[in-house]
Amino acid sequence: MDYTPFIGTDVGIAAKLITRGEAIAIPTETVYGLAANALDVRAVAKIFAIKQRPVFDPLIIHLADFSYVDEYVLGIPKVFRQLAEKFTPGPITFLLKKRSHIPDIVTAGSPYVAVRIPSHPVTQHLLKIIDFPLAAPSANPFGYISPTTAQHVADQLGNKIYYILDGGVCTVGVESTIVGLNEQGQIEVLRKGGLSIESIEEVVGKVIVRETSVSNPTAPGMLSSHYAPRIPLVLGNIEALADSGDPERTGIITFNRLLPNIPHKNQIMLSGTSNFTEAAFNLFAGMRYLDQMDLDVIYAELAPEMDLGVAINDRLRRAAHR
Ligand code: TXA
Ligand code: MG
Repeated sequence: MDYTPFIGTDVGIAAKLITRGEAIAIPTETVYGLAANALDVRAVAKIFAIKQRPVFDPLIIHLADFSYVDEYVLGIPKVFRQLAEKFTPGPITFLLKKRSHIPDIVTAGSPYVAVRIPSHPVTQHLLKIIDFPLAAPSANPFGYISPTTAQHVADQLGNKIYYILDGGVCTVGVESTIVGLNEQGQIEVLRKGGLSIESIEEVVGKVIVRETSVSNPTAPGMLSSHYAPRIPLVLGNIEALADSGDPERTGIITFNRLLPNIPHKNQIMLSGTSNFTEAAFNLFAGMRYLDQMDLDVIYAELAPEMDLGVAINDRLRRAAHR
């Protein structure tokens, strides 16, 4: 079915549509989500259909406050409470044993459910006026770059959804950091994201960081090719790569500078001041900007492997994988 996309700021309309079982786009501080009632199997099925997302890839549920999480899970480890105290609402997602009223379609059959408390004020408002959690993956077609503005959502899913709730530009710009507990009771970072590992370790000490796995596609956000533009993205020594082709048909993503021999309009400098927060904020919008230009290739360099540079590099590596 095709719809005319409607971008608006009416939380009341959003709540009505969601309550009657529709999937709509919502803003969060990380990226825009494609949200539906997590307790309504038919509504959740619409998310998978709209995104063309494989059903083995489970969804995160979103709640207004961490105090509501108990209703949906079987116990919360103390270390997660400590993290929640410090970082929620915010860009962190917890993997917890689910209660039975969370439908299997949400978790792809897993006994664990991913739970997040988004801080975006518009979605906070929405979550407060409905009485169920929202299942929401990023609002992009499966495998493409995640959207950080309402217009990004309209560009790609506009004809498939009734309403895009506009909350402006996402301030974090990369998806939440996902944490779980392993069998030894240690915290594992399952997806590097908008909350840095350093910030987490300040609260709970050393954590384990799970690296990308191609063989285990049910692990969070871990498909090796993901977040990918249409134009091939190649990682490496950016100066050497930049000299290797036609400058007019070359796109560039650098961490903190512009290259002399490539037109400036073809270049995304993530942060002129080497600020990781700003770089994360600019990453997906920058990839999209270059992807709609008439280019043969996008060359990118990695950020320093620290702070949000870890999440930025994770996304760049997946974008480059094909
Ligand atoms: O910042 C975010 O987390 C955004 C916003 C919209 O909240 N959401 C997001 O959702 O990034 P999505 O679906 O694009 O990525 C969530 C990842 C998926 O790769 C999924 O595999 C993993 O979380 N995940 C969700 N539930 C899980 C579960 N029960 N067990 C293992 N992995 C899970
Ligand atoms: Mg996603």
